[in-house]
Amino acid sequence: MQVSDAGSLSEQHLMNSFFPRNFKKNYPVIKSADGIWITDEDGNQYLDGCSGAIVTNLGYGVKEITDAIARQSETAPFAHTSQFLSRPALDLSGRLTSIAPPSFNLGRVYFASGGSEAVETAIKMARAYFVETDEPTRNIVMSCWPGYHGATLGALSATGHPVRRKPYMPILRPPALVHTDYRYRCQCGHRPGACYNDRCSLERADELEEAIQLQGPSNVMAFIGEPIVGAALGAAVPGATYWKRVRDICTRYGILFIADEVMTGLGRTGKPFAIQHWQVDPDILVVGKGLAAGYQPLSAVIASAKIAGAFERHSGVFEHGFTYSGHPVSCAAGLAAFDYMIENDLIRKVEQSEEKFFKRLEALRKFPAVGDVRGKGFMAGIELVRDIKTKEPFSPSLRASQMLANLAFEEGLLVYPGSGFINGSVGDHIMIAPPFVITDEELDELFARLEQAFNHFTESVKSELEASASSRYGE
Ligand SMILES: Cc1ncc(COP(=O)(O)O)c(C=O)c1O
Repeated sequence: MQVSDAGSLSEQHLMNSFFPRNFKKNYPVIKSADGIWITDEDGNQYLDGCSGAIVTNLGYGVKEITDAIARQSETAPFAHTSQFLSRPALDLSGRLTSIAPPSFNLGRVYFASGGSEAVETAIKMARAYFVETDEPTRNIVMSCWPGYHGATLGALSATGHPVRRKPYMPILRPPALVHTDYRYRCQCGHRPGACYNDRCSLERADELEEAIQLQGPSNVMAFIGEPIVGAALGAAVPGATYWKRVRDICTRYGILFIADEVMTGLGRTGKPFAIQHWQVDPDILVVGKGLAAGYQPLSAVIASAKIAGAFERHSGVFEHGFTYSGHPVSCAAGLAAFDYMIENDLIRKVEQSEEKFFKRLEALRKFPAVGDVRGKGFMAGIELVRDIKTKEPFSPSLRASQMLANLAFEEGLLVYPGSGFINGSVGDHIMIAPPFVITDEELDELFARLEQAFNHFTESVKSELEASASSRYGE
């Protein structure tokens, strides 16, 4: 075939040329999107109830952002960070450090293209910091199980998600994991319902101290955690005492605290950064997803003054870099997205809408498989269980969260499913995380479609639910 014939390739050829996530699934082809609505090439419409993958925080079709992208593409589409700085990268850096917690006020921003790249950058930055400051034995990254930090090998090594790790185990670094402060299934061993208290959260945090002792404090360089665990656990919010205790432990042992805000960052939970709900200052912040709201690939590592200052004072060099770090068009999109969010007061909107949003979510507890409803701002998780009294999960063969997501899809609603978080194979949740710009009428529509999906789901798993209730009552 001549290159000139490429435009006439058959649809079948095109479909067979693309490497999909799942070869067994049929995917619609997106045609257009506007606000919170997506249309596919067959004319079907979908209400985006999860902002893609908790990315398109500002909805689709924001002209201020697409105009900024066009302007930057026309003027200076590329600049390599070894040769030039760019105005959008500088402007966005300044805005990010100004809304971050106080320790970042004199900090610096390192841009990358996606969350995994940014997590890799943060881990390497932590290691390089200790090389700069003459503590070269520090090399271990501690993290939480369940948790998710990305798909690349370094980020996956720090990820507490067995399903995603399993095929790659032999090529990952050994994990150094502690339990997440997962309130619905607290690890404390107290009676169910008697453990929703600060003491349990402190015990979870203290696990980190034990694990540090085990590894040898002078070998540990960083602890990375999601302030609210997203994809791996469905918006699990730790207790009020948890993050302060983690911060104190990190400080006591000279370990850097990296807050992975790839999903929670930039307003999703009703504050610029979710860690601000706990009034805690990390050493490094990682953001991605919502940073350019899906208009361009963009992520960032925000280094506190302490971290950035060490590089400045010592070698002056962070031995790291991607070709597309600080891409001017991506940064222009991020800058326009940031300004749009601030000008339209969207973080406050999320904060003020939380109560109403969660009231609607709580109402879903009328469905017999809804075990837990959790989250913050516009980041919600619903855990599905076979038995709400015993919290018994569904059998993994049922693929309950995927089943519910498929049923929602049939109703024209996108939700974000997750599974395998309890012991590596069981546990189901879905996440509901609409764009911040969703209107009240659209929220009504979202919940109408979700309830319909839950009706079909309840019907489909009826025999499972009945079997579990009868076994509980000894029938
Ligand atoms: C908390 C967190 N960190 C890192 C990542 C990886 O981001 P990406 O998929 O953009 O590489 C994700 C993605 O879901 C995430 O939720």
